[in-house]
Amino acid sequence: MSILSKHKIIETNATLLMVLSLVVVAIGGIVEIAPLFYLENTIEKVKGMRPYTPLELTGRNIYVREGCYTCHSQMIRPLRDEVERYGHYSLAAESMYDHPFQWGSKRTGPDLARVGGRYSDQWHVNHLTDPRSVVPESIMPGYGFMLKAKLDGKYVADMVKANAMVGVPYTDEMLTEAQADFLAQANPDADSDGLLERYGKTAQVRNFDGQPELTEMDALIAYLQVLGTMVDFSTFEADASR
Ligand code: HEC
Repeated sequence: MSILSKHKIIETNATLLMVLSLVVVAIGGIVEIAPLFYLENTIEKVKGMRPYTPLELTGRNIYVREGCYTCHSQMIRPLRDEVERYGHYSLAAESMYDHPFQWGSKRTGPDLARVGGRYSDQWHVNHLTDPRSVVPESIMPGYGFMLKAKLDGKYVADMVKANAMVGVPYTDEMLTEAQADFLAQANPDADSDGLLERYGKTAQVRNFDGQPELTEMDALIAYLQVLGTMVDFSTFEADASR
């Protein structure tokens, strides 16, 4: 009996064919999946990355709520034209605390992964209130209502806690001080020592929207201004040994 005629036994027996197919597919699956359980970590740790402050996290939620991601990506590809336009290509670690990530592939507007520090706070206020006032040909919608949407951070600790539950390394102190940190970051007269101690020098403290009230505009701008600024690329070196 040749090997081919033995194969006929499999091909004419539906149950046997199915069982053997499953065995073959399972081997492929195990080969792909099993190594992931033994890797210490699939994301290279990078100096400077920290969880978002409560104010930045609030701004991020507003960004997601308003669907900014439907027009803006947050991932700079390692291609020459992208790197020349936007800066260093995005590292996996830079979105490790993003739940959900904002990589995206739709760019009606420019990539925002490194927009932090590119414009002044006042530019953002003007642009978000009336995009055409600063970029006449812009098709971006206005979000002026955010200047009137006041925030008190009453539930901000719950939001920080939810992020901690999905793995963002917020400490107990960050959780208990969440509302205080939230209020302190937008108030240059407040005591922000604790905030800076917990989140480091990349946490920027100021009145972001220039109004006395703490609003959604403050939170959104605090978020935009930190994007892409946590890792210091003047000293960053990719670890080629991994
Ligand atoms: C309908 C698509 C659309 C949506 C939605 C949108 N934008 Fe834009 N955005 C654009 C376009 C187009 C530009 C480029 C023209 C300009 O600067 O206004 C832009 C530019 C920007 C810039 C300047 C980027 C740079 O590097 O010059 C920022 C910052 C920005 N948008 C933030 C936001 C935020 C925050 C939201 C959500 C609240 C948002 N956008 C929603 C289309 C959009």
